[in-house]
Amino acid sequence: MRYKLGIIGAGKIGEAILAGSLAKGLLAPSDVILSVRTEQHRQNLEEKYHAATVLHNREVAKQSEIILISVKPRTIFEVLQEIADIIPDESVVVSTAAGVTLESMQTRLARKIALIRAMPNLGVSVCEGMTALAPARFTEEDKVEKVKQLFESVGRAIVLDEQYMDAVTGLSGSGPAYVYLIIEALADGGVKMGLPREVSIELAAQTVLGAAKTVLVTGEHPAKLKDQVTTPAGSTIDGLMELEDGGLRVTLIKAVVKATERAHQLLHK
Ligand SMILES: NC(=O)c1ccc[n+]([C@@H]2O[C@H](COP(=O)([O-])OP(=O)(O)OC[C@H]3O[C@@H](n4cnc5c(N)ncnc54)[C@H](OP(=O)(O)O)[C@@H]3O)[C@@H](O)[C@H]2O)c1
Repeated sequence: MRYKLGIIGAGKIGEAILAGSLAKGLLAPSDVILSVRTEQHRQNLEEKYHAATVLHNREVAKQSEIILISVKPRTIFEVLQEIADIIPDESVVVSTAAGVTLESMQTRLARKIALIRAMPNLGVSVCEGMTALAPARFTEEDKVEKVKQLFESVGRAIVLDEQYMDAVTGLSGSGPAYVYLIIEALADGGVKMGLPREVSIELAAQTVLGAAKTVLVTGEHPAKLKDQVTTPAGSTIDGLMELEDGGLRVTLIKAVVKATERAHQLLHK
């Protein structure tokens, strides 16, 4: 039996990719094999998804075309060493481990195997993820395309050179946290002006969602869209002036810079 997808470490990210690819019809449960560490978790996944589930990573590696490893960064080298000799030559290994470089993974594999470093974000859990994929130089185009399709079943995916992965981590990897803070603060503003808390959160979150969607759907520069909703002498320009006065723009730029620098310091080699 040859599985199209094997997931080693079906935790938050691994399970989200499994759920998304099944829901979108990209894969059927019989196309997938999973491994986790604990028996209770294995049983839960088997009951929920009816896919093959095991506690043995080598079993997954031996039989899968795409081997998605989604364990914690501190565990990935151990897993790579465990499966290195059994990975089929024609398979592609994909790692979602934050800050783990292609070179360090290649060293542990000690073989020339197609390899991709992926940086998804929490949006994958609601099929609105943003994933950057950095393939190792010798990874064939068709394998990169297959892996891209897999991540597109849980949102958007782009292929980038590995040199950009720290910046990706600082922007879209950490980004959901920044936006949660913005939504919370907008909702606080609504509460301050008398709106009930739940109403405020719904208004703020849907506004962020709608604004993000107009950027992606129209392809317009955000500044142009901002101009379109800013009536001369209206209320929006007063709100914008407050944001500029508070330094929102520069604060967000600095947040991405700091998180990128930190991601670089945390590299696992
Ligand atoms: N969460 C995010 O927003 C995010 C974003 C970008 C990248 N990442 C990266 O994605 C990876 C996974 O993150 P996560 O948040 O999904 O972690 P998680 O929820 O903790 O999932 C990790 C999974 O790995 C399993 N596991 C642990 N040791 C294992 C082993 N030796 N063999 C097989 N499975 C093993 C665990 O199984 P048990 O449950 O049975 O212990 C667990 O299901 C991390 O490297 C992280 O850096 C995460």
